[in-house]
Amino acid sequence: MKRTLITSALPYANGYLHLGHCAGAYLPADIYARYLRLKGEEVLYVCGSDEHGVAITIAAEKEKVSPREIIDKYHEANKEAFEKFGMSFDIYSRTSLPGHHDTAREFFRDFREKGYLVDLEEEQFYDEDANMFLPDRYVEGTCPNCGYDHARGDQCDNCGAYYDQLKLKNPLSLVSGKSPVVRRTSHWYMRFDMFQSFLESYIESHAGDWKDNVLQQSRSWLKQGLNERAITRDLNWGVMIDDIPNIPPGKAKGKVLYVWFEAVLGYISATKELINILAEQGKGSSDSWKKWWQDPETRYIAFIGKDNIVFHTLIFPAMLHGKGEGYILPDNVPANEFLNLEGQKFSKSRNWSIDLRDFIADFPEPTANDSLRYTLAMNLPETKDSDFTWKDFQARTNNELAAIFGNFVNRTLQFAYKNFGKVPDLPKSSKWLTLFWKNLISYFESSGISDNELLGRVPEELKKIFNDNDINLIYAVWKGNREAGAFYERFRFRDGVSETMNIARAANKYFNDEEPWNSIKTDPEKAEKTIYICCQLVRSLAVLFAPVTPHASAKIFDTLGIEYLTGDSPKDDKSEDYWLQTALPADLEASKLKEPELLFAKIEDETVSVQQAKLGVKIEEKVKDVQKLISIEDFSGIHLRTAKVLKAEKVHKSKKLLKLLVDTGEGERQIIAGIAQHYEPEQLTGKTVIILANLQPAKLMGLDSYGMLLAASDKDGKLSILTTDTEDMPPGAEIH
Ligand code: 2FM
Ligand code: ZN
Repeated sequence: MKRTLITSALPYANGYLHLGHCAGAYLPADIYARYLRLKGEEVLYVCGSDEHGVAITIAAEKEKVSPREIIDKYHEANKEAFEKFGMSFDIYSRTSLPGHHDTAREFFRDFREKGYLVDLEEEQFYDEDANMFLPDRYVEGTCPNCGYDHARGDQCDNCGAYYDQLKLKNPLSLVSGKSPVVRRTSHWYMRFDMFQSFLESYIESHAGDWKDNVLQQSRSWLKQGLNERAITRDLNWGVMIDDIPNIPPGKAKGKVLYVWFEAVLGYISATKELINILAEQGKGSSDSWKKWWQDPETRYIAFIGKDNIVFHTLIFPAMLHGKGEGYILPDNVPANEFLNLEGQKFSKSRNWSIDLRDFIADFPEPTANDSLRYTLAMNLPETKDSDFTWKDFQARTNNELAAIFGNFVNRTLQFAYKNFGKVPDLPKSSKWLTLFWKNLISYFESSGISDNELLGRVPEELKKIFNDNDINLIYAVWKGNREAGAFYERFRFRDGVSETMNIARAANKYFNDEEPWNSIKTDPEKAEKTIYICCQLVRSLAVLFAPVTPHASAKIFDTLGIEYLTGDSPKDDKSEDYWLQTALPADLEASKLKEPELLFAKIEDETVSVQQAKLGVKIEEKVKDVQKLISIEDFSGIHLRTAKVLKAEKVHKSKKLLKLLVDTGEGERQIIAGIAQHYEPEQLTGKTVIILANLQPAKLMGLDSYGMLLAASDKDGKLSILTTDTEDMPPGAEIH
């Protein structure tokens, strides 16, 4: 049996995950993990929160809380959102756990002993106001490579360049906002130069099977030549190294391991943690983590976004190789490009983003997560940046998931439920159908998937039981599952999911062509056979769609009352290839149907508009709006009334003011209004206006004013007074 270790980049626990993250390193990995589990392979899928480094300390400073509070808050929130999204991690760990610190220190200690580390004194930016050295993300400046103004200390988000901090032009400290000075500090450096030739052959050994972008970035780094890189930072949050043997404590004080050095090791720590938990439950021994990391029979696939490439193709492999002990290296690093949102980059600060948890709150149905998974899967940035739009989400949900897959499942199960109360038994005339079905598959298998003539040469004896529609459908599921699987194995998830949808299309066509709604009246045995085959296809599609729509698949298995095959967790029993078996009939005899429910809710235009309108609304504005909210009681304290203008005249020496005498229904009063540049006095006389009647009296240009006239003004300052729609409202009418 094949064994595959899968990791997804550990997201920083410094904020909520958004859909861009999902499309980068998570959804594709989950599809892959579920697919392999359904293939009967042994899979371990590991992830967790990256909880160290300046990403965390900066978030803590922003939110004015401790780093610990930040990581606890976001770890829990992200873990929960991932669960609801249907991520099938075997473990979602965290790098703040002591076990991880031990693993990371052990690598550091080992590398020091082996001579891979040197301690050097180097110049670094220092913030004199804050009395601290500035790790990379605490400095911003102009990129030495492309001139981008907001480049970070070690990396430019605009052009992707990595560089030495001191190369940054016009540096500014993000702590004090001032220009930092340069001071000497000592750090441990890893001699990546010692791994240059090893890494060159490693990368070239994958020239034929890795994505172009991954190869290109890795080669370009190697071409520049690897240098030693500092693997410690002056920071008090992270993996401390002051208790490592033979290190003078003073030297390591205030230093932690560079987050990238230890975060990648988080994959190993998380594996150990899971294996320990299992061992405590009596399932296996605690050193069986080694079979995942140190057995050449294990394939390791590391899913990441494009900003993490070299850390997974060069840095981590160098560390694994340097540690020895038979550590395996990534077999593939299928890095995705970035997902955009409605044509623009995701940006939390501009609120041009959709957080996963907000999506879940707005669309609480579990199968709505499947709509999101499906839409993202069909738009994965596999070879270039791609786009998520709400319109596409609506179209994918309504026109594909609901209209094709959902429709086929629904019409089949409704038909079976209403007419038979269960999956129909095969009629006498078709009692050998399952056997013949197997024979038909054997015939396909012996002929091969690429044989175009295949369908024309189906043996006559099989045609006695199967008509052309039957044969075409069985062929579609046989061919489709193989092709979808082949795409998944090459990390082409969009194509794999499209192939799966094509099987659902063929199934709908079959239902239409067979017309069971007619045959149930004219030839009930035929209807039974049709619906039996359709029920088989419903089950097959539930398995084949499970990597993308696990919630909908679970609902189908539940309705059919059969075993769940969603690729959620490993099967303890024999390793069956459930994926390929979807071309064959399953045992549905005992299956009693529950009343079927619709799988996918349609997305209305209004929902799309509401979601579109949320984008780009700044959080600050939202907060301001919230602060402005008043209760109905508050409003009842504001007395707005109609009033009739009896007289209007200019105020002497004032360009802006008009003096009005108004009838308030209870008497007459004077109001001084700043509308002289917009209205002539004659225009107002006789008009019914709206006034704020209980405003404190005020003096304007020496004149008493008892109330305020309401008027609307546009952004250019143009004024228009408020009045009532009908002209016969009496003065003193209340405004509610
Ligand atoms: O880019 C990020 O969000 C990093 N936290 C990814 C780390 S991946 C691995 F090193 F753990
Ligand atoms: Zn740049």
